[in-house]
Amino acid sequence: MQHRISLKNPSYDDYAQFYAMRFTSEVVYWADDEPHQMSLDEYALGRLTAQGSGEIIERIIVVDGVPVGTITARDFVDRVCQCTLGIVIADPRYWGHGYGYAALRLFMVLLAEEGVGRVILETYANNKRAQRCFHKIGFQKKRVFFAPNSGRFVVQMCMSLAPKRPIGEVITRDDPRWRAPRR
Ligand SMILES: CC(C)(COP(=O)(O)OP(=O)(O)OC[C@H]1O[C@@H](n2cnc3c(N)ncnc32)[C@H](O)[C@@H]1OP(=O)(O)O)[C@@H](O)C(=O)NCCC(=O)NCCS
Repeated sequence: MQHRISLKNPSYDDYAQFYAMRFTSEVVYWADDEPHQMSLDEYALGRLTAQGSGEIIERIIVVDGVPVGTITARDFVDRVCQCTLGIVIADPRYWGHGYGYAALRLFMVLLAEEGVGRVILETYANNKRAQRCFHKIGFQKKRVFFAPNSGRFVVQMCMSLAPKRPIGEVITRDDPRWRAPRR
């Protein structure tokens, strides 16, 4: 069965759907610099506020209609059109099925349309699943360093994007007007 992966603008309810899984020790181990103790309100409202103020661009990853995680661009450096990427699928049962790759492909188009020219990210050196996923999309390893605060090695990867400027309205797959291109 083919699964449908899409991205949507976040709502409080989306965060609520995977909040309980998002801060389990297994997910935090791969995704975060330090363990988080935050309430749903702190998590969801904090993200919505950051998105509303333009500090981040965040989308909810949706698999067959179910919100499963987040994909985020932050730390924008306008001078060099650069941002930092983060991605977390909160439920480990959804890992390793190609959903992260599909979500990244959609998000990269969005970032290119925003005029972002270069995307960087950092991931733990032992996070081979994430690195494989990032490599497939086109990220290249840039450097490896030891992060004293986490006591772990970190891999920095980067990727350049060809800026895409739409000449008209952009119709995405979740729009009812979207049709598959003719071959
Ligand atoms: C990182 C993450 C978003 C990737 O999404 P995903 O849907 O799991 O990744 P994909 O299935 O698209 O790609 C994973 C690739 O790694 C491979 N893989 C899976 N488990 C692996 C492992 N333990 N070691 C090495 N490769 C592995 C898969 O086979 C796949 O490669 P393939 O398509 O060539 O077969 C997701 O796993 C996640 O949210 N993990 C927890 C949080 C995290 O690590 N975030 C990244 C922080 S920078």
